Amino acid sequence: MFKLVVKYTRQFTWAAILAPLLVALEVVLGVLIPQVMTSIIDDGINGIGGSNMALIYQLGGKMVIYSVLAMFAGAGSGICSAIASSGFVHNLRLEMYERIQDYSFKNMDKFEVPSLVTRMTKDMREIRMAYMAIVRMLIRSPLQLIMSTYMVFKINSELAKVFFVAIPVLGIGLYLISRFAHPKFRVLMKKFDAMNSSLEENFVGIRVVKTFVREDYEKEKFKTTSEGVMNQQRSAEGLVILNGPLFNLVMYACMIAVSYFGGRMIIGGSMTTGQFMAYLSYLRNILFGLMMVSFALMQIIFAQASVDRANEILNEKPDITDFNNDESLLLEDGSIKFENVSFKYSENAQKDALANINLDIKSGEMVGIIGSTGSGKTTLVQLIPRLYDVTDGELVVGGHNVKDYKIPNLRKDVAMVLQKNVLFSGTIEENMKWGDANATHEEVVEACKCAQAHDFIESFPKGYETDLGQGGVNVSGGQKQRLCIARALLKKPKIIILDDSTSAVDTDTDKRIRQALKERLSGMTSIIIAQRISSVMDADKIIVMDDGKIADVGTHNELMERNTIYHDLYETQQQGVSE
Ligand SMILES: Nc1ncnc2c1ncn2[C@@H]1O[C@H](COP(=O)(O)OP(=O)(O)O)[C@@H](O)[C@H]1O
Ligand SMILES: [Mg+2]
Repeated sequence: MFKLVVKYTRQFTWAAILAPLLVALEVVLGVLIPQVMTSIIDDGINGIGGSNMALIYQLGGKMVIYSVLAMFAGAGSGICSAIASSGFVHNLRLEMYERIQDYSFKNMDKFEVPSLVTRMTKDMREIRMAYMAIVRMLIRSPLQLIMSTYMVFKINSELAKVFFVAIPVLGIGLYLISRFAHPKFRVLMKKFDAMNSSLEENFVGIRVVKTFVREDYEKEKFKTTSEGVMNQQRSAEGLVILNGPLFNLVMYACMIAVSYFGGRMIIGGSMTTGQFMAYLSYLRNILFGLMMVSFALMQIIFAQASVDRANEILNEKPDITDFNNDESLLLEDGSIKFENVSFKYSENAQKDALANINLDIKSGEMVGIIGSTGSGKTTLVQLIPRLYDVTDGELVVGGHNVKDYKIPNLRKDVAMVLQKNVLFSGTIEENMKWGDANATHEEVVEACKCAQAHDFIESFPKGYETDLGQGGVNVSGGQKQRLCIARALLKKPKIIILDDSTSAVDTDTDKRIRQALKERLSGMTSIIIAQRISSVMDADKIIVMDDGKIADVGTHNELMERNTIYHDLYETQQQGVSE
């Protein structure tokens, strides 16, 4: 926690330093005020030779000044600690966000999205509370405790014996409460995670929930998770709330004891009324300070779980990084060569997702990939723009090993339309410019024409200025796919990969997209993954994938003759068409 604080407070360090200093000032004043009060009572009111009004005014003025100063110090420290804590958390959040942006697909597979969201919101709040507690209480309370205890002993060490009983009772009580409450809070955080997870899953998939009429089931499920949080909160906080009654019990017991013994001392003449009054103030200070220390410690313990979770994000090594800093190395052409490539999604995966892939694609070729779902088609093409790194073997793209390029250089020339693609909120035109920020409107139109998207865009009342909504909700699946293709084309890449990107497009449009690709972008290597053989039959070569391996490579005619899987697939698909 402290390491993190020192590292990320940065430009708010002044506030972080000023806050405890002001707190210290406030405490010192808080200790001086009862002393002035003692003087007022003992010297001003009950002084030798009667009351002294002048002295009372003078001391009263001093007390007012101290109080006002204490108020400003208190307010100032509050403001400073708010500035420092929110600034610190802001810096931390930014850093975490930046790290996450550098994560590879593999890194992302490790964390779940709702958990990342909780870590950046709720956990940050916990850390901020602990930070405030450190700045305000962890400095204030021990200081207050020490000074008040000193004063108490100075005034009357006999009476101070009361504290030898009170402090251990309060201390043990607070310790027991936090000890039993801590594990309950840990469980509470987990339940929160579960609740957020279920919330996000439901909201993201709300359309599916509706089509399957699962609302009642989902409501029931959420009710259970939410009840889990409620019950846990009740039991954890119910325990912590005991702090208050315990504190009151001990304080009142002390007051009674101090009044009893103190009263006898006043009557016996070994203590003055003023001292007695100050005593009660210090008593309150001491017990209150003790409670605040325990509260602050508890906050820190709670926050430790959140700090650990933040550190997990910060310390995660992006698994795909530049090996070479040569900015000038660019793809020479669109050739691709797999040499004995194997790939696993994780070290402890039982089976290779790809095994012994050997493949030679020349620049400018159109390559089709066919294979059942789960045969490794997506996995194969994801290696080309280095979304994942090969586990074994070598992948050469554009004349160099993919690891030799700076990642932006590689990805600039390799455009990939992902199988699970997304558009972002904003207009169509804005989304297209992800491909090329400097593209002119004419270039955007040209790419959209090529992807057969221009006509339907024009049919929208606002045309290219149509707002897509979050995730591109207001276009159909097939339209979305065509927009994604156009966006990739705008990059003017040397290699374009379409991963099942026309699955929701009718066969006729599909065919026109392929024709346009062939005509207008000659020289560009294209890799087309498809379910329909008709989508790939005119490719220069067709790769048949099966169970993570390349089963065959050839043209349509060659494969029809020699490959039974391909032949059978073609026959079944033809039947589907003729029926
Ligand atoms: N992110 C991932 N983590 C672990 N395994 C994965 C991941 N993505 C795909 N797989 C597994 O790899 C295999 C090949 O998947 P994939 O390449 O997506 O198949 P295809 O695109 O041919 O349908 C499947 O068995 C799948 O379960
Ligand atoms: Mg796939």
